Amino acid sequence: MKNIAIFASGAGSNAQKIIDHFKGSNKAAVTLILCNKPGAGVFTIAENEHIPSILIEKERFFKTDDYIQILKEAKIDLVVLAGFLWKVPGNLVQAFPERIINIHPALLPKYGGKGMYGHFVHDAVIAAKEPESGITIHFVNEKYDDGATILQERCTITPDDTPETLAKKVQVLEHKHYPLIVERLLTL
Ligand code: GRF
Repeated sequence: MKNIAIFASGAGSNAQKIIDHFKGSNKAAVTLILCNKPGAGVFTIAENEHIPSILIEKERFFKTDDYIQILKEAKIDLVVLAGFLWKVPGNLVQAFPERIINIHPALLPKYGGKGMYGHFVHDAVIAAKEPESGITIHFVNEKYDDGATILQERCTITPDDTPETLAKKVQVLEHKHYPLIVERLLTL
């Protein structure tokens, strides 16, 4: 059995999809959820799903190896960032080489980097009158939204799309593809 840890900062809809995908699997399961935002929706998901969850403390996250130890003790095979808004510190990246992945709601390298999250991404894409957007799933390195791409999937933007309608299209792609990529990486 492979163990998946999910890092999230918000509602956790991608976390839920990944949890659901592995329910009843004899290959892998989400066994730990970590979140930096007290009261975030992902904590409710963890509780409902009976998955242990941890509130990440800033000082410990950026200045110690504590979370590396927690992940190692939990025998985590893959770290999945799903709407996690802090940069991953170098010590954590190095402790899990090619074992930390992220999903970004646009076609990187465009519309990525610090401050490009949530509606800011879709606002910028619509303002630039892009003909398409999509998702990028990539390995995590020490820079925001910068590691090697694993998968990109596209959606068309029509003239009547708004940041809100685009967000929905992109979320459909996220929910469809992220669990499958997690599975593929664990069975490689
Ligand atoms: C997703 O759009 C993801 O791409 C981005 O943050 C959002 C997380 O949403 N990095 P949720 O918490 O999984 O609902």
